[in-house]
Amino acid sequence: MAIITAMVSQKGGVGKSTLARLIAREFAAQKWRVKIADLDISQGTSFQWRARRLEHQTEPDIAVEQFGRVDQALKIADQYDLLVFDGAPHSSQATRSIAQASDLTVIPTGLAVDDLQPAVTLAHDLVKNTVPRAKIIFALCRVGNSPVEIEDARTYLKQAGYGVLFGSLPEQVAYRRASDEGRALTETRFQSLNERAEELAQAMVDRISELTNTAKTSQAGPKRSVA
Ligand SMILES: Nc1ncnc2c1ncn2[C@@H]1O[C@H](COP(=O)(O)OP(=O)(O)OP(=O)(O)O)[C@@H](O)[C@H]1O
Ligand SMILES: [Mg+2]
Repeated sequence: MAIITAMVSQKGGVGKSTLARLIAREFAAQKWRVKIADLDISQGTSFQWRARRLEHQTEPDIAVEQFGRVDQALKIADQYDLLVFDGAPHSSQATRSIAQASDLTVIPTGLAVDDLQPAVTLAHDLVKNTVPRAKIIFALCRVGNSPVEIEDARTYLKQAGYGVLFGSLPEQVAYRRASDEGRALTETRFQSLNERAEELAQAMVDRISELTNTAKTSQAGPKRSVA
């Protein structure tokens, strides 16, 4: 059975597809059999991204398939080592089903209270619907350059009772450009941006490893998935 991870949010445009591609790419680079299950059938963002990746002949290839329903994706899970759900926004029932089936559910969020509040509301809803709190983690995405704002968001989420991944993803043109060419956030032309994305990806890897007890996922270096 695959390890299953999910990127979900109620809000649109927060970074679900971007994070799904990031984590999928990191595991695929380690020769894992990875599939992204793109549940946003109206947009097919990750599906289209994969087409651009193939066009540019970027390795490793990352399989993406569109699914209308969560259970359809779960049926093929045992053919893979890692299944990554790329969730659709504004879809409460599907979001609950994905989170219930996942080893780790990641909720990307921006830093404003306007972003944080609905993200916490979603997490509370998942907990109410039997998703263990420990399996939910927040990722700070599209952040600005104020360390104070980042820390305040971290504190807000911790006080709400949730973990937050170590690291954060800045809003950067180069990340968008990479995505436009079918590349992941660790595949930009800028070493420092790749390293920043790697830090967050490693935090996700460590968290998955902690939750699933798989030696396979653990890599050298200090564990610091949550900060
Ligand atoms: N760190 C970033 N810097 C710059 N652009 C970003 C960053 N993260 C995401 N984006 C861009 O923001 C847009 C939304 O990101 P993404 O598609 O990952 O969000 P989403 O949550 O999957 O959206 P949706 O709810 O529509 O599925 C995309 O154009 C993406 O390229
Ligand atoms: Mg998306």
